[in-house]
Amino acid sequence: MEKDIARVLLSEEQIQNRVRELGERIAWDYRGRKPVMICILKGAVMFYTDLLRAMPIDLSMDFMAVSSYGKRTKSSGEVEIRKDLSISIENRHVIIVEDIIDSGFTLTYLSRMLNARGASSLKICTLLDKPSRRAPGITLKADYSGFEVSDEFVVGYGLDYDESYRNLPFIGVLKPEIYENN
Ligand code: IMP
Ligand code: MG
Repeated sequence: MEKDIARVLLSEEQIQNRVRELGERIAWDYRGRKPVMICILKGAVMFYTDLLRAMPIDLSMDFMAVSSYGKRTKSSGEVEIRKDLSISIENRHVIIVEDIIDSGFTLTYLSRMLNARGASSLKICTLLDKPSRRAPGITLKADYSGFEVSDEFVVGYGLDYDESYRNLPFIGVLKPEIYENN
């Protein structure tokens, strides 16, 4: 697994420190409001569980799964819901927790859909953001963001390539030869 990594981009310690900071800030902003924290499976799962443990406030947890790239490294622009929420978000303050914003298609679609269900407010928390990769016409911005990254394909700490590397405790740049032949 580690032999496929060109270099470490964010160490375990850098990630843990930043996630703790984000959790404390969100907890302060949402104190007394019992937000619904939505984990976008599977990429955000490591981030989500660390983030929520850094939030000493009352909150609800729920999970959603959307279509992934599979063996490709670029988004198609189509979003398919594979698993929906199990609790109602009507009149609730909602925070979507995502691993990375790339083209922005996934979260633009999800935000519209969840707003239409009558959330009182909706904010986006992403661990990583690649602002240079936004698709034309997509104006989406994260309300809370861990790190800005450049246009390289990264894996680890939940992020995968073809369902591998999610369990690395750090985030690394994948060697291009791993995906170039697909
Ligand atoms: P978007 O719709 O293009 O913003 O795609 C976001 C999704 O693409 C993320 O939730 C990831 O699953 C995936 N993704 C985008 N860039 C990367 C990357 O560098 N590594 C792993 N997954 C990525
Ligand atoms: Mg994802």
